[in-house]
Order: sequence, then C-alpha cells, then structure tokens
Amino acid sequence: MNRLESLGVNNPVRRVIQRHYELPRLARLGGRLAGGRALEIGCGSGYGTKLILDQMGAASVDAVDPDPAMVARARRRLRRYGDAVRIRRGTAEDLAAALDTPDGAYDAVFGFLVLHHVEDWRAALAEAARVLRPGGRLYFVEVTSAALARPAPPVPRPPGAGPLQRRAVPRGASPPRPRARRPVDDGGGVGLPARGGRAGEPLSRSAPVTLS
Ligand SMILES: C[S@@+](CC[C@H](N)C(=O)[O-])C[C@H]1O[C@@H](n2cnc3c(N)ncnc32)[C@H](O)[C@@H]1O
Repeated sequence: MNRLESLGVNNPVRRVIQRHYELPRLARLGGRLAGGRALEIGCGSGYGTKLILDQMGAASVDAVDPDPAMVARARRRLRRYGDAVRIRRGTAEDLAAALDTPDGAYDAVFGFLVLHHVEDWRAALAEAARVLRPGGRLYFVEVTSAALARPAPPVPRPPGAGPLQRRAVPRGASPPRPRARRPVDDGGGVGLPARGGRAGEPLSRSAPVTLS
C-alpha cells in the first residue's frame, strides 16, 4: 500500500463505514456466524478482524497480511482477544505458508477491500475455497471497476510550493504524452455515484458467496 492508500483505510471515517455499513450489510446478506472459525485475508490494521468477532459473532479469527507494519498494528489492536485471534504475515494466495490450518478448516473467509490488491486474485479465491469447509462462506467488500476507473484526485501540494512548471518542448519535438493516472482505492466510499459510471452506482460492493 502506498501512503495515500494507507491514509485512506487507516482513519476513523473508514472505521465508521466498516462498522455501520459494511458489516451490517454482510450480516444481512450472508448471516452472522454462530461462534464459527473465521479467516480474514489482508487484515490491515485489524479493525475488520475485531468486527468479525464483535459483530459477526465468530469465536476465533486467523488473519493474514503481507505488510509487517500492518501486522504489528493489528496485533496491538487485537491483543485483548488473546488466543481467539492469530495474526500472521502472509498472502491470500499462499495461506499454507502462513497458517497451519488444514483444508476445510474455516466457516467463513472475509476480505475487506483486498482482492483488487492481489495480482493473482484467482489464486487467492482458490485458496479461500480450499480452506473453507463445504458450505462455508466467503464474505467480501470490494471496489467496483467503475470506481477503480475513476481518475485519481489531484495530489494536494504543500503550501508555498508555487505553480506547477510546464516543461519546454523544443520546436518540432512531440509534446510529452500525459502520464496514465493510477486508479484509486476509494476506501469503501459507498453510496456515491461513480464518475463515468451509472448515477447512484455504489463505489464498493459487499457480497457473501457460498463455496461448495
Ligand atoms: C486497502 S487495504 C485494506 C485493509 C483492511 N482490510 C481494511 O479494510 O482496512 C489492503 C490490504 O491488503 C493487503 N494486501 C496486499 N496484497 C495482499 C495479498 N497478496 N494478500 C493479502 N493481503 C494483501 C495490504 O497489505 C493491505 O493491508
């Protein structure tokens, strides 16, 4: 994650959205867990893991994230849950490397705004299917392609930075091609119409999926 994305997810607004919109919606769509065992991929700072325990009713959660700084934050946040939580450094594509759990060990797998970060997302979904028990559920929240296609907002310039300089193009030379803008992660900015998308189309979607 770059600094902008990290700011986008590690802030109080994102936590309010996750607690009051994403989790209730996932619970409504896929049902709460009756004390089951859950896995969260890409847990970031661990707030989703906390909600999986407190709001979704999981009895225990294993969580993985490849970013050591996020793993450290998540461990600090979730210390009070003791043995009910295990946070490991690892990727969604190779859960076996991070966790010692056998196939079919989890009742539910969760991913909040993670799949678009995973290059081989098919491998990640195959891993989720492998570790889920038959009838287990994959709950995920993901940004839509319309939101990802939105141009990035201008990066704020520090005060006193002065106007942007134009580069001189020698006579006869072709002007530089505009650089492609990177898609942005809206950090779960749900309910807003996406520019270029249909009016009213949400920027993120939540979905529980049963993998058999
Ligand atoms: C947009 S953040 C979301 C964090 C957290 N789930 C949340 O909702 O606040 C994406 C997270 O995915 C993690 N990530 C990136 N590549 C990953 C991979 N291959 N497997 C699992 N997690 C990954 C990043 O380290 C980051 O913590």
